[in-house]
Amino acid sequence: MPVEVAVIGCGQWGANHVRVLSEIREARVALCVDADAKRLAAVTQRYPGVRTTAKVDDLCADKTVQAVVVATPSASHHAVVKACLEAGKDVLCEKPLTVTAAQSRELVDLAEKAGRILMVGHVFVFNQGIQKLRELISTGVLGEVYYLHAARTNLGPIRTDVNVAYDLATHDISIFNHLLGAGPSEVSARGQVYLSPAVEDVAFISLAYPGRALAHVHVSWLDPRKVREITVVGDRKMAVWNDMDAIEPIRIYDKGVVTKTYYETYGEFHYALRDGDIVIPKIALHEPLKAQDSHFVSCVAARSAPISSGRDGWRVVQALEAIQQSMRQGGAPIKLPSGQG
Ligand SMILES: NC(=O)c1ccc[n+]([C@@H]2O[C@H](COP(=O)([O-])OP(=O)(O)OC[C@H]3O[C@@H](n4cnc5c(N)ncnc54)[C@H](O)[C@@H]3O)[C@@H](O)[C@H]2O)c1
Repeated sequence: MPVEVAVIGCGQWGANHVRVLSEIREARVALCVDADAKRLAAVTQRYPGVRTTAKVDDLCADKTVQAVVVATPSASHHAVVKACLEAGKDVLCEKPLTVTAAQSRELVDLAEKAGRILMVGHVFVFNQGIQKLRELISTGVLGEVYYLHAARTNLGPIRTDVNVAYDLATHDISIFNHLLGAGPSEVSARGQVYLSPAVEDVAFISLAYPGRALAHVHVSWLDPRKVREITVVGDRKMAVWNDMDAIEPIRIYDKGVVTKTYYETYGEFHYALRDGDIVIPKIALHEPLKAQDSHFVSCVAARSAPISSGRDGWRVVQALEAIQQSMRQGGAPIKLPSGQG
C-alpha cells in the first residue's frame, strides 16, 4: 500500500513537491492544503484525484493521511509542523526548519516523544554532486579539510519574510554540516539591508568548525550572476562543485602544497607546490527533490531515521540565529552551544 501523503503550502516550491510525490510509486498524494483558493484550483486542475482544503485542522483530523510535507512560508513552519506532529503525522518540513532554535528544539522533542519522523528539506544533501564531495572527504581523497567556500548569488528572487541567510545560506550550512559531520562552533557575519526594511539582502558569513576547518558563505539577492558553487580545499587535493554545470558539476584538482624542512640550512621551510591533473568524475544526475521526497516516504514506510533529520534542521537554525545576531552586532563572533554532529 502506498504511503498517503498531504502537502501543506502549494505555492512556488510546494507545487514541486506535489509533482515529485505524484511520480513516486510508494506514495499517493491524498490531500493538498493551502490558504489560497487559487493555489488549490491549480492543484485540482492538474491532479483531479487529489482532495483539497484550506485548513490545516482538516488534515490533522484526517486519519487516512500518514505523512505530511510542509512548504508554507518559513515563519509558519513551527505552528504548522507542531499541529501535524500532535495529530500523529510524520513530517517533512521545508528549510529552514523554523525561525528560532528554541522552536526547532521544541519540534525535535515533540517528534521524539511521539515516535514520529521529523525530516527537514535540506535538499542539497540529496544532490549527487554534494554526495560525491562527501565521498571525496570521507574516503580521504581530499585529506584534511582546511576550508570550504560557498557562493550562492543571483539577482532575486527577493523574499521579504526572512533574510537572505535564512533563505539561501541554509543550503550551504546544511551542506557544510553534512560534509564535515558537525555543526559550526562559532560564526560571525556582516549583512546589509538594501531593499526590504529589516531583511538583509546580502550576507558574508564566516564559520569555524570543530578542529581547524573554516568556512565562508557569500549569499545575495543583489548580484549580476547566478552562482551556485562550493570550493573544498584539503591538504591532499581540492575540489569544486558547480551546480550550474549540469553535465560536469565536480572537478577534482590534484593541487597542494608540501612543506619541507631543510635541517642542513638551519631548519628553513620550503614549500613545494603540486599542480597536477584535473579530474572530472562521471556523475549521473537525478532530481534531488525527488530523491529527498522518496527518502522521506521510505523512512515513513520503514520507520527509519531520515538522513536530514529534525536535529540537523535544528543545528542549521542555531547557526542562522547566531548569524542574524552577529549581523545585528556588526559582525561580532557568536559561539554556538555545540559544534558536534
Ligand atoms: N529547498 C529549496 O530549494 C526551496 C526552494 C524554494 C522555497 N523553499 C521553501 O519552501 C517554503 C515555501 O516557499 P515558496 O517559495 O513556495 O513560498 P510561496 O509563498 O510561493 O508558497 C507558500 C504557500 O503557502 C500557503 N500558506 C501560507 N500559510 C499557510 C497556512 N498556514 N496554511 C496553509 N497554506 C498556507 C500560501 O497560500 C502559499 O500558497 C519556504 O519555507 C521556503 O524556504 C525551499
